[in-house]
Amino acid sequence: MDRMHVTEMLSGIQLPGHLHTPESLQYAKEFQFREGDVLIISYPKSGTTWIQEILTLIYSQGDPAIATSVPNWMRAPWLEHTYFKTTVKDEEGPRFITSHLSSDILAPALQNSKAKVIYVVRNSKDVAVSFYYFHKMAKFMPNFESFSEFLEHFLQGKVYYGSWFDHVKGWYSQKANLDMFIISYEDLYKDLRRSIKRLCGFLGCPMYSKEVDKVEHHCKFAVMSQNVMVNYTLIPQEILDHEQSKFMRKGVVGDWKNHLTDEQNENFDKMYKEKMSGCDLQIVWNVD
Ligand code: A3P
Repeated sequence: MDRMHVTEMLSGIQLPGHLHTPESLQYAKEFQFREGDVLIISYPKSGTTWIQEILTLIYSQGDPAIATSVPNWMRAPWLEHTYFKTTVKDEEGPRFITSHLSSDILAPALQNSKAKVIYVVRNSKDVAVSFYYFHKMAKFMPNFESFSEFLEHFLQGKVYYGSWFDHVKGWYSQKANLDMFIISYEDLYKDLRRSIKRLCGFLGCPMYSKEVDKVEHHCKFAVMSQNVMVNYTLIPQEILDHEQSKFMRKGVVGDWKNHLTDEQNENFDKMYKEKMSGCDLQIVWNVD
């Protein structure tokens, strides 16, 4: 696998080249959203797969048949990926579409549509840790010698998919323009049941308590991490090497405390303050 095979967007953001091409990005930009579409948007490693699984199970009233027989990338394909064109559903009914693209690219088309957007956000320090391990396992991502080397690149936004700060600020600034629901990984982690119910409210999908029980059960880390349709073990080892790190790695809040030194943490806080100034996003990043 050629780690250096890169596709670059006009904004200079780099994306893995085996999944993105100039044509697939153009297709994403020109895609016509329609009423009933539900978009899951996130910066990588923020809980994208978790939301994909929750949505699947909400729409199947807790029946795990689809969640355990169809891979997540078929149920909720990535808009910008090369296979999207042939995967996206044509027939009537809700379509789940995933994207890591930034708001400057996608928001204009979404503003003119009736699509619903779920933006999932996660503590940037935990994203950095999770992303670092993903770089270790994903043979299409650049290789970093150490976590500190990766962290420097992450803080500068010099990683694939660009800056976490720009992604979050950009999408957050669209909240009044779109039918958008912002949920954090930390909310999901703290109270999965309440989060599922809030999502049901946003999607207009009322559920019986017994159905919510089932969604909650199948979306627990312990259950999801064993589901081959979401744990990425279906992908060949030459592409995702699960011996280096699992995709469903730890699934916790605050793992950054095991990775950042005091100095790195102080520097991170300084950067966060600087980069997020003027953004009134209010998320409680800790669970203790
Ligand atoms: P970790 O690497 O910290 O374990 P994404 O889907 O956006 O790529 O995010 C992947 C991260 O979400 C991984 O984080 C993964 O373990 C975590 N995750 C996925 N499903 C989860 C669940 N049911 N509960 C907790 N964390 C989950």
